[in-house]
Amino acid sequence: MDNLRRLISDPDLLPLPKHDLIRRIADQSAALGMPCCLVGGFVRDVLLKQPLNDFDIVMEGDAIKLGKALVKEFGGRLTTHSKFKTATWFIGDNEFLDLITARSETYTQAGALPTVKPSTVEDDLRRRDFTINAMAMRIDGDHFGELLDPLNGQKDLQAGIIRVLHPRSFVDDPTRMLRAVRYEKRYGFQIEAGTLRQFNDEARLVLSQLSGERLRHEFDLMFDEENALSMLARASELGLLQPIHSVLAWDEKIKARFLLFLENRLPVTQLHLWAVWLMSLSSAEIKSLGKRLDFTAETLKCALAASSIFQSLNAIPDMRPSQCTEWLDEMPVDAVFAVSKSIPQEKPRKMLDTYLAKWMHIKVHTAGDDLKKRGLPPGPKYKEILRRLRAAWLDGEVESVEQEERLLDILLENKGATR
Ligand code: CTP
Repeated sequence: MDNLRRLISDPDLLPLPKHDLIRRIADQSAALGMPCCLVGGFVRDVLLKQPLNDFDIVMEGDAIKLGKALVKEFGGRLTTHSKFKTATWFIGDNEFLDLITARSETYTQAGALPTVKPSTVEDDLRRRDFTINAMAMRIDGDHFGELLDPLNGQKDLQAGIIRVLHPRSFVDDPTRMLRAVRYEKRYGFQIEAGTLRQFNDEARLVLSQLSGERLRHEFDLMFDEENALSMLARASELGLLQPIHSVLAWDEKIKARFLLFLENRLPVTQLHLWAVWLMSLSSAEIKSLGKRLDFTAETLKCALAASSIFQSLNAIPDMRPSQCTEWLDEMPVDAVFAVSKSIPQEKPRKMLDTYLAKWMHIKVHTAGDDLKKRGLPPGPKYKEILRRLRAAWLDGEVESVEQEERLLDILLENKGATR
């Protein structure tokens, strides 16, 4: 108990404002006489001495009552869901906290959302995914710092083991298979042998029927992790990719692309990683996968562009800089970045890098207004001339403002002179 209390008072682990917030909630729940706990990942990470930020609150009784008391005392605003007795407390501009009433769950149909009813914190822990996520730390009144660990999560945490709570866990919720992989590779843990056996065909079948949005969310979470690459490799090894979509694969070539891409020191986003993963697929395959995983328009566009660049790698070295630039200007810059940093071929890689570092930023000095002043009537010719001038800069045909003006003179004298 002292241990947990001491750990969450460590400002290197939990920022002070968060600690104060927990104390306020603790006081209010004690005043209402409701047992109140921090649960799940927060407790796991406290015990692992990992930096903490987000926390989940579960209480016995009525979380809406606690929410109302908190708003009365400290301000903010509350939204409530009376069916589940949960509330969200909006504290500041960007800060909010979910207050949950402890509940137990029954799954009437595999993979569907469960039926819930109010219960104790201990029951609430029993509906969770893994023992290491099924611990709670009580915070109300004198109980502050008490560990509730009915499923021996602490022991598994010490041994580095990911273990489900019951044999049907993955059939109830197959996203847990992807979560198991994420925790295994994040912490360098092992999935326990009995749990590993539950990565079976029945669970994979339910996985194949799961909504695209839930599945994509799991991949996006992996992409936010440092060890995303080993997570994808492990998901493939455990047969989790094919049931989701037949084009979703993992092989040495994809791995090599990821390794190369992750060598770059620039910020990496989910969008980039989708592009790196999928660029060797055809556009039809990407569209089909996008439909299955309910891709956002941005992800779909980026992956399709990456694939189109990837299919043209051999042609890139023969392009003039202006040709290459005009083509890439039509693509999302994230797609160009993803391809340029993940391919080994030196020539196209260099061209894509030059596009990102230099060509895409090149602008002409002449503006539409200048053309007007020179007596050219507004029309499609403007775009054509400006494009021709930019191409001249890109291809090294002009290298100074004077040279650009001279070329403009020629173009205006001879209005047909566009390439
Ligand atoms: N949970 C679960 N089954 C799921 C998703 C979540 O049992 N499919 C439970 C786990 O107890 C988990 C808690 O809900 O600890 C909160 O879920 P989430 O916020 O997704 O995970 P965290 O534990 O906060 O872990 P992470 O660090 O990965 O965000």
